Amino acid sequence: MPSRTQADVRRWWTENPMTYDWRGEIPFEPGSAEHLAEVERRFLAEAWFAQAPGASPFSGLIPFAELQGKDVLEIGCGTGVHARLLAQAGARLTAVDLTPTAIELTKRRLELANLDADVREADAESLPFPDASFDVVWSWGVIHHSEHTDRVVAEIARVLRPGGRLALMVYHRSSITYWVNYVLYRGVLRGGLLRERPDELANRWSDGVIARHYTRNDFSSLLAPWFDDVETRVMGQMSEAVPLPARVRAPVARLVPRAVQRAVLHRFGWFLFVSARRRS
Ligand SMILES: C[S@@+](CC[C@H](N)C(=O)[O-])C[C@H]1O[C@@H](n2cnc3c(N)ncnc32)[C@H](O)[C@@H]1O
Repeated sequence: MPSRTQADVRRWWTENPMTYDWRGEIPFEPGSAEHLAEVERRFLAEAWFAQAPGASPFSGLIPFAELQGKDVLEIGCGTGVHARLLAQAGARLTAVDLTPTAIELTKRRLELANLDADVREADAESLPFPDASFDVVWSWGVIHHSEHTDRVVAEIARVLRPGGRLALMVYHRSSITYWVNYVLYRGVLRGGLLRERPDELANRWSDGVIARHYTRNDFSSLLAPWFDDVETRVMGQMSEAVPLPARVRAPVARLVPRAVQRAVLHRFGWFLFVSARRRS
Protein backbone atom coordinates (compact mmCIF):
# COMPACT_ATOMS: atom_id res chain seq x y z
CA MET A 1 0.00 0.00 0.00
CA PRO A 2 1.46 3.43 -0.85
CA SER A 3 2.47 5.30 2.27
CA ARG A 4 0.11 8.01 3.43
CA THR A 5 1.28 11.27 4.96
CA GLN A 6 -0.28 13.66 7.44
CA ALA A 7 -1.22 15.89 4.48
CA ASP A 8 -3.36 12.99 3.18
CA VAL A 9 -4.87 12.54 6.65
CA ARG A 10 -5.75 16.22 6.88
CA ARG A 11 -7.23 16.28 3.37
CA TRP A 12 -9.40 13.21 4.02
CA TRP A 13 -10.85 14.50 7.30
CA THR A 14 -11.40 17.95 5.79
CA GLU A 15 -13.44 16.37 3.02
CA ASN A 16 -15.14 13.83 5.33
CA PRO A 17 -15.82 15.47 8.69
CA MET A 18 -17.11 13.10 11.35
CA THR A 19 -20.85 13.66 10.96
CA TYR A 20 -22.04 10.04 11.42
CA ASP A 21 -23.95 10.52 8.15
CA TRP A 22 -22.71 7.46 6.27
CA ARG A 23 -25.31 7.68 3.49
CA GLY A 24 -25.53 11.47 3.14
CA GLU A 25 -29.03 11.50 4.66
CA ILE A 26 -28.87 14.55 6.95
CA PRO A 27 -30.96 17.16 5.10
CA PHE A 28 -29.74 20.23 7.02
CA GLU A 29 -27.15 22.86 6.10
CA PRO A 30 -23.76 21.73 7.51
CA GLY A 31 -22.98 23.71 10.65
CA SER A 32 -26.60 24.75 11.23
CA ALA A 33 -28.10 24.12 14.66
CA GLU A 34 -30.31 21.37 13.18
CA HIS A 35 -27.35 19.71 11.48
CA LEU A 36 -25.19 19.73 14.61
CA ALA A 37 -28.07 18.41 16.71
CA GLU A 38 -28.66 15.54 14.28
CA VAL A 39 -24.93 14.65 14.20
CA GLU A 40 -24.92 14.53 17.99
CA ARG A 41 -28.10 12.46 18.12
CA ARG A 42 -26.60 9.87 15.75
CA PHE A 43 -23.28 9.73 17.60
CA LEU A 44 -24.82 9.34 21.05
CA ALA A 45 -27.45 6.84 19.86
CA GLU A 46 -24.65 4.42 18.89
CA ALA A 47 -22.77 4.88 22.16
CA TRP A 48 -24.85 2.59 24.41
CA PHE A 49 -21.63 1.48 26.16
CA ALA A 50 -20.66 4.96 27.35
CA GLN A 51 -23.08 5.27 30.28
CA ALA A 52 -25.44 3.26 32.46
CA PRO A 53 -29.01 3.08 31.09
CA GLY A 54 -30.71 6.45 31.56
CA ALA A 55 -27.53 8.20 32.76
CA SER A 56 -26.12 11.25 30.97
CA PRO A 57 -24.10 10.69 27.78
CA PHE A 58 -20.55 9.38 28.28
CA SER A 59 -20.83 9.60 32.09
CA GLY A 60 -19.50 6.04 32.30
CA LEU A 61 -16.25 7.03 30.58
CA ILE A 62 -15.75 10.70 31.47
CA PRO A 63 -15.73 11.66 35.19
CA PHE A 64 -17.62 14.90 34.57
CA ALA A 65 -18.01 15.71 38.27
CA GLU A 66 -14.21 15.90 38.64
CA LEU A 67 -13.65 18.28 35.72
CA GLN A 68 -14.83 21.57 37.22
CA GLY A 69 -11.97 24.08 36.82
CA LYS A 70 -9.56 21.47 35.42
CA ASP A 71 -7.41 22.12 32.36
CA VAL A 72 -8.70 19.62 29.83
CA LEU A 73 -7.35 19.02 26.32
CA GLU A 74 -9.46 17.25 23.72
CA ILE A 75 -7.51 15.90 20.76
CA GLY A 76 -9.48 15.52 17.52
CA CYS A 77 -12.71 17.28 18.47
CA GLY A 78 -14.51 16.51 15.17
CA THR A 79 -17.89 18.25 15.33
CA GLY A 80 -17.56 19.07 19.03
CA VAL A 81 -19.96 16.60 20.67
CA HIS A 82 -17.52 15.76 23.46
CA ALA A 83 -16.20 19.33 23.57
CA ARG A 84 -19.68 20.53 24.50
CA LEU A 85 -20.04 17.88 27.22
CA LEU A 86 -16.59 18.71 28.64
CA ALA A 87 -17.15 22.48 28.61
CA GLN A 88 -20.61 22.04 30.10
CA ALA A 89 -19.04 20.13 33.00
CA GLY A 90 -17.03 23.24 33.86
CA ALA A 91 -13.67 22.16 32.43
CA ARG A 92 -11.27 24.85 31.15
CA LEU A 93 -11.31 23.28 27.74
CA THR A 94 -8.82 23.39 24.91
CA ALA A 95 -9.91 21.42 21.85
CA VAL A 96 -7.70 20.77 18.83
CA ASP A 97 -8.23 19.12 15.48
CA LEU A 98 -6.16 18.74 12.33
CA THR A 99 -8.81 20.28 10.07
CA PRO A 100 -10.36 23.73 9.72
CA THR A 101 -13.78 22.11 9.15
CA ALA A 102 -13.72 20.43 12.55
CA ILE A 103 -12.62 23.65 14.24
CA GLU A 104 -15.41 25.61 12.58
CA LEU A 105 -18.07 23.03 13.53
CA THR A 106 -16.85 22.71 17.13
CA LYS A 107 -16.74 26.49 17.60
CA ARG A 108 -20.26 26.73 16.19
CA ARG A 109 -21.58 23.99 18.50
CA LEU A 110 -20.04 25.66 21.57
CA GLU A 111 -21.34 29.07 20.49
CA LEU A 112 -24.88 27.66 20.12
CA ALA A 113 -24.59 26.23 23.66
CA ASN A 114 -23.16 29.52 24.94
CA LEU A 115 -20.00 27.80 26.13
CA ASP A 116 -16.42 28.97 26.05
CA ALA A 117 -13.28 27.08 25.03
CA ASP A 118 -9.97 27.52 23.24
CA VAL A 119 -10.64 25.67 19.98
CA ARG A 120 -7.83 25.64 17.47
CA GLU A 121 -6.33 23.86 14.52
CA ALA A 122 -3.29 21.84 15.59
CA ASP A 123 -1.57 18.57 14.82
CA ALA A 124 -1.41 16.35 17.91
CA GLU A 125 1.99 15.13 16.69
CA SER A 126 3.38 18.52 17.73
CA LEU A 127 1.05 20.22 20.17
CA PRO A 128 1.42 24.01 20.53
CA PHE A 129 1.37 23.91 24.35
CA PRO A 130 4.10 24.06 27.01
CA ASP A 131 5.04 20.97 29.01
CA ALA A 132 2.68 20.03 31.85
CA SER A 133 -0.22 22.27 30.73
CA PHE A 134 -3.17 19.94 31.31
CA ASP A 135 -4.80 17.85 34.03
CA VAL A 136 -6.74 15.66 31.61
CA VAL A 137 -6.38 14.63 27.97
CA TRP A 138 -9.41 13.15 26.21
CA SER A 139 -9.49 11.77 22.68
CA TRP A 140 -12.13 9.64 21.01
CA GLY A 141 -11.31 7.75 17.81
CA VAL A 142 -8.48 9.99 16.68
CA ILE A 143 -4.86 9.09 17.30
CA HIS A 144 -4.90 5.80 15.36
CA HIS A 145 -5.65 7.96 12.28
CA SER A 146 -2.52 10.08 12.69
CA GLU A 147 0.58 9.41 10.59
CA HIS A 148 2.71 8.75 13.70
CA THR A 149 0.54 7.62 16.60
CA ASP A 150 3.65 7.12 18.76
CA ARG A 151 4.52 10.82 18.40
CA VAL A 152 1.00 11.76 19.54
CA VAL A 153 1.41 9.59 22.64
CA ALA A 154 4.76 11.26 23.44
CA GLU A 155 3.12 14.67 23.03
CA ILE A 156 0.23 13.73 25.32
CA ALA A 157 2.77 12.63 27.94
CA ARG A 158 4.63 15.92 27.55
CA VAL A 159 1.62 18.22 27.96
CA LEU A 160 0.03 16.29 30.85
CA ARG A 161 0.93 17.31 34.39
CA PRO A 162 2.42 14.63 36.64
CA GLY A 163 -0.52 12.59 37.94
CA GLY A 164 -2.70 13.89 35.08
CA ARG A 165 -5.23 11.55 33.45
CA LEU A 166 -5.42 10.29 29.90
CA ALA A 167 -8.52 8.66 28.43
CA LEU A 168 -8.85 7.78 24.79
CA MET A 169 -10.31 5.34 22.30
CA VAL A 170 -8.44 3.63 19.48
CA TYR A 171 -9.44 0.76 17.20
CA HIS A 172 -9.19 -2.72 18.65
CA ARG A 173 -7.36 -5.39 16.67
CA SER A 174 -8.83 -8.43 18.45
CA SER A 175 -12.27 -7.46 17.17
CA ILE A 176 -15.01 -8.85 14.98
CA THR A 177 -14.63 -5.86 12.68
CA TYR A 178 -10.92 -6.51 12.16
CA TRP A 179 -11.05 -10.28 11.76
CA VAL A 180 -14.44 -10.83 10.09
CA ASN A 181 -15.07 -7.66 8.08
CA TYR A 182 -11.50 -6.95 7.02
CA VAL A 183 -9.50 -10.20 7.15
CA LEU A 184 -12.18 -12.83 6.41
CA TYR A 185 -14.47 -10.88 4.09
CA ARG A 186 -12.04 -8.48 2.36
CA GLY A 187 -8.96 -10.66 2.71
CA VAL A 188 -10.10 -14.27 2.24
CA LEU A 189 -13.44 -14.10 0.40
CA ARG A 190 -12.51 -11.11 -1.82
CA GLY A 191 -8.87 -12.16 -2.24
CA GLY A 192 -7.30 -9.09 -0.60
CA LEU A 193 -4.81 -11.23 1.32
CA LEU A 194 -3.12 -12.08 -1.98
CA ARG A 195 -2.04 -8.44 -2.20
CA GLU A 196 -2.03 -7.05 1.33
CA ARG A 197 -1.32 -8.02 4.92
CA PRO A 198 -4.20 -8.02 7.46
CA ASP A 199 -3.17 -4.65 8.94
CA GLU A 200 -3.06 -3.12 5.47
CA LEU A 201 -6.54 -4.46 4.69
CA ALA A 202 -7.93 -3.07 7.95
CA ASN A 203 -6.28 0.23 7.16
CA ARG A 204 -7.73 0.34 3.65
CA TRP A 205 -11.32 -0.54 4.60
CA SER A 206 -11.64 1.54 7.79
CA ASP A 207 -12.45 5.23 7.79
CA GLY A 208 -9.70 7.78 7.15
CA VAL A 209 -6.55 7.10 5.12
CA ILE A 210 -4.69 5.67 8.10
CA ALA A 211 -6.41 3.50 10.74
CA ARG A 212 -4.16 1.47 13.01
CA HIS A 213 -5.63 -1.30 15.14
CA TYR A 214 -4.20 -2.20 18.55
CA THR A 215 -4.41 -5.09 20.95
CA ARG A 216 -4.68 -4.26 24.65
CA ASN A 217 -1.03 -5.22 25.06
CA ASP A 218 0.19 -3.22 22.05
CA PHE A 219 -1.37 -0.06 23.33
CA SER A 220 -0.34 -0.58 26.94
CA SER A 221 3.27 -0.99 25.72
CA LEU A 222 3.02 2.29 23.83
CA LEU A 223 2.04 4.08 27.06
CA ALA A 224 4.49 2.24 29.33
CA PRO A 225 7.40 4.76 29.18
CA TRP A 226 5.27 7.55 30.70
CA PHE A 227 2.07 6.16 32.22
CA ASP A 228 0.96 4.09 35.22
CA ASP A 229 -2.38 2.53 36.10
CA VAL A 230 -3.12 1.69 32.45
CA GLU A 231 -6.59 0.19 32.14
CA THR A 232 -8.16 -1.06 28.93
CA ARG A 233 -11.82 -1.77 28.18
CA VAL A 234 -13.33 -3.13 25.00
CA MET A 235 -16.63 -1.87 23.60
CA GLY A 236 -18.39 -1.49 20.28
CA GLN A 237 -21.50 -0.44 18.40
CA MET A 238 -24.46 -2.84 18.16
CA SER A 239 -24.03 -3.14 14.39
CA GLU A 240 -20.70 -4.93 14.97
CA ALA A 241 -22.10 -7.80 17.03
CA VAL A 242 -23.70 -9.60 14.08
CA PRO A 243 -21.20 -9.19 11.23
CA LEU A 244 -23.49 -9.78 8.27
CA PRO A 245 -24.39 -7.64 5.24
CA ALA A 246 -26.73 -4.81 6.25
CA ARG A 247 -29.86 -6.29 4.60
CA VAL A 248 -29.75 -9.53 6.62
CA ARG A 249 -28.16 -8.19 9.78
CA ALA A 250 -31.29 -6.75 11.39
CA PRO A 251 -33.50 -9.87 11.16
CA VAL A 252 -30.67 -12.10 12.42
CA ALA A 253 -29.77 -9.65 15.21
CA ARG A 254 -33.40 -9.79 16.41
CA LEU A 255 -32.89 -13.50 17.17
CA VAL A 256 -29.84 -12.87 19.35
CA PRO A 257 -30.57 -11.52 22.86
CA ARG A 258 -29.24 -7.98 23.38
CA ALA A 259 -27.40 -9.13 26.52
CA VAL A 260 -25.49 -11.67 24.43
CA GLN A 261 -24.64 -9.06 21.79
CA ARG A 262 -23.40 -6.69 24.49
CA ALA A 263 -21.27 -9.37 26.13
CA VAL A 264 -19.72 -10.14 22.72
CA LEU A 265 -18.97 -6.44 22.16
CA HIS A 266 -17.29 -6.14 25.56
CA ARG A 267 -14.87 -8.83 24.41
CA PHE A 268 -14.61 -8.36 20.64
CA GLY A 269 -15.85 -4.81 19.96
CA TRP A 270 -13.98 -2.42 17.66
CA PHE A 271 -13.29 0.23 20.30
CA LEU A 272 -10.41 -0.06 22.74
CA PHE A 273 -10.91 2.45 25.55
CA VAL A 274 -7.72 3.17 27.45
CA SER A 275 -7.25 5.20 30.60
CA ALA A 276 -3.97 5.90 32.36
CA ARG A 277 -2.20 8.22 34.80
CA ARG A 278 0.84 10.30 33.88
CA ARG A 279 3.73 9.12 36.01
CA SER A 280 4.98 11.76 38.47
C1 LIG B 1 -13.04 9.74 13.54
S1 LIG B 1 -12.94 11.48 13.75
C2 LIG B 1 -13.38 11.61 15.46
C3 LIG B 1 -13.90 12.96 15.82
C4 LIG B 1 -14.51 13.06 17.23
N1 LIG B 1 -13.55 12.75 18.26
C5 LIG B 1 -15.71 12.14 17.32
O1 LIG B 1 -15.63 11.13 18.02
O2 LIG B 1 -16.73 12.44 16.68
C6 LIG B 1 -11.19 11.73 13.76
C7 LIG B 1 -10.78 13.21 13.94
O3 LIG B 1 -9.40 13.24 14.30
C8 LIG B 1 -8.78 14.32 13.65
N2 LIG B 1 -7.35 14.03 13.64
C9 LIG B 1 -6.70 13.01 13.03
N3 LIG B 1 -5.38 13.08 13.26
C10 LIG B 1 -5.18 14.17 14.05
C11 LIG B 1 -4.03 14.77 14.59
N4 LIG B 1 -2.80 14.29 14.39
N5 LIG B 1 -4.18 15.89 15.35
C12 LIG B 1 -5.41 16.41 15.57
N6 LIG B 1 -6.54 15.88 15.06
C13 LIG B 1 -6.43 14.77 14.30
C14 LIG B 1 -9.47 14.35 12.30
O4 LIG B 1 -9.32 15.58 11.65
C15 LIG B 1 -10.92 14.05 12.68
O5 LIG B 1 -11.65 15.21 12.94
